[in-house]
Amino acid sequence: MDTLNAEDLRSSATLIMKLWTSSKTASSGNEAELSKLNYHLRNLLPDAEKYPNPINFVIPTWETLWRLVATCLARVYDNAEYCHVFEEFLQDPTSRRFHDHSDSTISNVGYSDGLCADFIINETLRLHPPSRHISRSFPIETPSISIPVPKLTFVGGWPVLTLDWRHRTQIQTEVADIEAAHLSTDIWGMNALTFEPRRWALHADKDAPTLFVFGHGPLMCVGKKWAPMAAAIIVGAILECIKADGLEIVGGRSIGGREGWDDWMIQSFET
Ligand code: HEM
Repeated sequence: MDTLNAEDLRSSATLIMKLWTSSKTASSGNEAELSKLNYHLRNLLPDAEKYPNPINFVIPTWETLWRLVATCLARVYDNAEYCHVFEEFLQDPTSRRFHDHSDSTISNVGYSDGLCADFIINETLRLHPPSRHISRSFPIETPSISIPVPKLTFVGGWPVLTLDWRHRTQIQTEVADIEAAHLSTDIWGMNALTFEPRRWALHADKDAPTLFVFGHGPLMCVGKKWAPMAAAIIVGAILECIKADGLEIVGGRSIGGREGWDDWMIQSFET
């Protein structure tokens, strides 16, 4: 960490955010910002052979993970019980502790019964999925629309032009509404909009509702197993640093997404 330049980190984060947001509306005109971003990323990842295009290395991890960490912090910072779960997990950052919600392991400290970091992370991903929609595009043939394709053949040595009628191929895009599935009262019950990590204790059997946040099938996220635990460690470490440095999180009006965090603050405890 000591070798990473804070300005490179800050600028990279700001520029990725800016480019990502403008990619939803504009399709060009961001070349100057893209080259600035590449400059800062190259400073952070100087090995050009290992990281020929550093943005490819950074984006899949960073873009989703920071949002999970930010929304999770926003959900837990003012709840002593939830904060305690992350403190405990940071002391023993193992897969066993991440998933362990048995009363006997944690109840000796007086709270956090039946709770574990896994449940809190899952509940955050359910209410604040970093990818709200996942789409797939594929070619389909439309039998109703035929297009003529000229074809040259030779009959008795003479060239003959004929027309082949082929079905037109169109690109069809299907979009899975991940957020709608995660917030559906039909699936999650009447308290679907409530942050209730303990619901995950009831969702252990194989037919229980699940998260779609990492996608599905052959293109499913390769970080699916690793990312939730990594996020929990980062949340625990941030909470620990804030406490150790005499700081506190001051919540804003609402929990942001890619934007909307302007009124959230970290300030000295005394102010
Ligand atoms: C909470 C954190 C994360 C979320 C919510 C997330 C979500 C996703 C989603 C929705 C996809 C597309 C899946 C599909 O189209 O079906 C994806 C793909 C991918 N993710 Fe993640 N991701 C996360 C963290 C990570 C991390 C930490 C890494 C790297 C270690 C990573 C690497 C990738 C890669 C490389 C792909 C592309 C896979 C492919 O196309 O073959 N992700 N992720």
